[in-house]
Amino acid sequence: MNSTYCCAIYISKATLPMTDVVIKNILKKSRANNLERKISGYLYYDDGHFLQYIETDIAQTLDKLIVVLEKDQRHQIINCFKSCFTGNKRFLEWSMGQIDKNQLINLNLEQQIMNYMKWLKSQNHNVDMNSSKIWNMVDLLASHKKVLQLI
Ligand SMILES: Cc1cc2nc3c(=O)[nH]c(=O)nc-3n(C[C@H](O)[C@H](O)[C@H](O)COP(=O)(O)O)c2cc1C
Repeated sequence: MNSTYCCAIYISKATLPMTDVVIKNILKKSRANNLERKISGYLYYDDGHFLQYIETDIAQTLDKLIVVLEKDQRHQIINCFKSCFTGNKRFLEWSMGQIDKNQLINLNLEQQIMNYMKWLKSQNHNVDMNSSKIWNMVDLLASHKKVLQLI
């Protein structure tokens, strides 16, 4: 059954040097709080900047966390987008997942499109009904064109 969830993605600038220990502490606290508040998402850190994605069923829960994050002295939010969608949450299993740089570099979109299409076939899903996801992935891949090398 489709339900509505609200999410936000923001980029922030760290205000102090971020060691692995500081980031692990942020993640530990975030996971404990988010689990309790049914918030999911991921945190990515690179070169003095965070990129965090958060999602929850309750719009006020999201707004409350954003207010807390805005007050956190360890970083300064530069840009934040918020939206609500109907459908399944994107990172339901992650109370606060950590994506690291090397994992992102290895993200193989073509493989993902293939796996998704195989999975649809195995589930006997009508591809037409699910094709928007495929087109989104193709869009994503197209947006990476500049870094792809033609062979
Ligand atoms: C980059 C960054 C991401 C954070 N993400 C979360 C989060 O997802 N959930 C959360 O509860 N706190 C998060 N925090 C910590 C909050 O700003 C705040 O310190 C914490 O929620 C306070 O929790 P407490 O009231 O239980 O002490 C984050 C902090 C930083 C710097």
